[in-house]
Formats: sequence, structure tokens, C-alpha cells
Amino acid sequence: MKITVIGAGNVGATTAQRLVDKQLANEVVLVDVLEGIPQGKALDMFEASPVEKVDVRVVGSNTYDATAKSDIVVITAGIARKPGMSRDDLMNTNCAIVRNCASSAVAVSPDAIFIVVSNPLDVMAYVAMKAAKLPRERVIGMAGVLDAARFRSFIALELNVSVEDVNAFVLGGHGDSMVPLPRYSTVAGIPITELLDQQAVDRLVKRTRDGGIEIVNFLKTGSAYYAPSAATVAMVESIVRNKKRILPCSVYLQGEYGLQNTFAGVPVKLGRNGMEQIIQIKLNPDEQAALAKSAADVTASIGKLQM
Ligand code: NAI
Ligand code: 2OP
Repeated sequence: MKITVIGAGNVGATTAQRLVDKQLANEVVLVDVLEGIPQGKALDMFEASPVEKVDVRVVGSNTYDATAKSDIVVITAGIARKPGMSRDDLMNTNCAIVRNCASSAVAVSPDAIFIVVSNPLDVMAYVAMKAAKLPRERVIGMAGVLDAARFRSFIALELNVSVEDVNAFVLGGHGDSMVPLPRYSTVAGIPITELLDQQAVDRLVKRTRDGGIEIVNFLKTGSAYYAPSAATVAMVESIVRNKKRILPCSVYLQGEYGLQNTFAGVPVKLGRNGMEQIIQIKLNPDEQAALAKSAADVTASIGKLQM
């Protein structure tokens, strides 16, 4: 198993480190345009491996030769948000970057499964799919696992229970119109709608939607990366180990949930073939309308792309 992580910044380097620590590959390749940065971070990570007792080669590069025959490619390259910026403000800069990364990577790893992290997430997943000319099963956007992890953390804090017993689903695009689903969010199997009053649920939903900017406002120089890298690695692990976990991921929809030709977060089975199934759960009219609105926002952004 060989995994390439493109972008050796905060999300990329943290993702690579988690991949190495969990021994999810024999080789992890870190690529960035900045000279010396992927090489230095990769060597530093490899030098930790005797201490951590993990046999994983870690290689840094400014070109794609070293990435050849990767099984999985994770794209984290691009600029991140600063205070006052929306994810959409990143669109044109990151579109050019992601297009270049996806086409360069697929040229030497034609069978790879691509996981896209760069923002605006759903639009960048579309850009990667088009640039790499890949079937939809092999281009999967990371956002729902992160947004659901935030929702789960806030629910656990609110009820003073273990995060382990909290499950949650957040569907839709990774933007202000994302769709946390309280009815499908549970503590030890009990829907949170039976454990919290409506006001508390609404407060946690709002904090989840604002989860990205809450971190940006603290950090000021960039955006979150510990939880994003953990979420990315959960997706990679399900693919590498063929676990067939059901995770909320952004995938290209062709009729599912009544949505056509756009990326949005829905429950997906992830296994060795990438996106193996889209799970269609029953939504009530309000939930369906919120999902349709969120997907329409993504479609509108895709329409503004300068490709
Ligand atoms: P960062 O600024 O720390 O790292 C980005 C790296 O990409 C930099 O090292 C930069 O040199 C590199 N880069 C730029 N152009 C490149 C190119 N053409 N080829 C290779 N590398 C290139 O940013 P950070 O915090 O790592 O975030 C990366 C991206 O991930 C941002 O767009 C951010 O908004 C997004 N993100 C998405 C999340 C999600 O839930 N989907 C969560 C967190 C971040
Ligand atoms: C986040 O939600 C920046 O999209 C990223 O933290």
C-alpha cells in the first residue's frame, strides 16, 4: 500500500503523520511546491519511526515521480481560510491548484482512489474528478466525517457523556448550509431529540455549522487541522482495510436523494474500491429541503468555476 499526500501544510503533514503512526501504508509520499518542506517534514517523520516502532518509508518531493503507483492520493494542497474569509473565497486559487495536483497525480497513479480535502470542498472534489477524468467511485470529498465529529464532540460536552457513545450524521455541502441531522444523531442508540430540548439541539447544530470558523477565529493564521486530518485518515483506513464503514462523504450524485450532477455529503460505504454504495436514508420534508438547498449552493459554485 502506497499513499500520497499532496500539500505538506498543516492538514497534509498531520494526515501523513497519522497514516504513518497507524501503519496504513508501507510508503507515504508527501508532495508540496515549497522546496525543502515536504523533504524536511518527511525525513523528520521517518526519524520518529524507530521510536514509534513503525516500518513505514516516508518520502518528501516537489515532483510527482516519487508518487507513482500510489493506491490512494489525498489532496490537501491550496490556501486555507483566514478570519473574515468564507470557504468560497478560496475557490479560484484552489481550483487551479487542485486541477494541477489531480492531473499530475493521476498521470503516474492511474488506479488510485482520490480523497479531496482542499476547500471549498465539494467544488474541489468536482474539479479533481474532472481534471483526473476518474469515475465517481474514486473521487471522495472529506467533510462529513469532520462535521459529524464536531457535532459528536459538542453533544458529548452538552450531555457530559463519553464521545465514544455519540454518533451523528451531517449531510450536504461543507458550507454554511450543511445539514446536521439531529433525528439520526444518537447517544448509545437514543436520538438526541429525546435527550435534549429543541433550543439545545438548535444551539449545537449552529455551533457545528460554525465549527470551522470557530477554529479560524482562534488561530487567526489558518484553519483547523487536527480534527480534519483524523477525519481524513478514518476514510483512508476504511478503504485500506476494506472495512466498509458507512461515513458521510461528499460524492458525485446522479439521482440519489433527487440530486443530479453535483457533489454533496451523503452516507457512503467506503471500501477497497472507494465509494462502494450510497446509502439512501429516509429524510422528512424539512431535511430533504435543507439537503436540496445545500446541494444547490454547491451546484451554483460549480457553475462559477473558471475551468
Ligand atoms: P496550509 O496552508 O497549511 O497548507 C497548504 C499547502 O499546500 C502549503 O504547504 C502549500 O505550499 C501547498 N500547495 C499550494 N499549492 C500547491 C501545489 N500546486 N501543489 C502542491 N502543494 C501545494 O493549509 P492547510 O491548513 O493544510 O489546509 C489545506 C486545505 O485544506 C485548505 O484549502 C483548507 O481550507 C482545506 N481544509 C479542508 C477541510 C475539510 O473539511 N474539507 C478541513 C481543513 C482544511
Ligand atoms: C474546517 O471546517 C477549514 O473547512 C475547514 O475547519
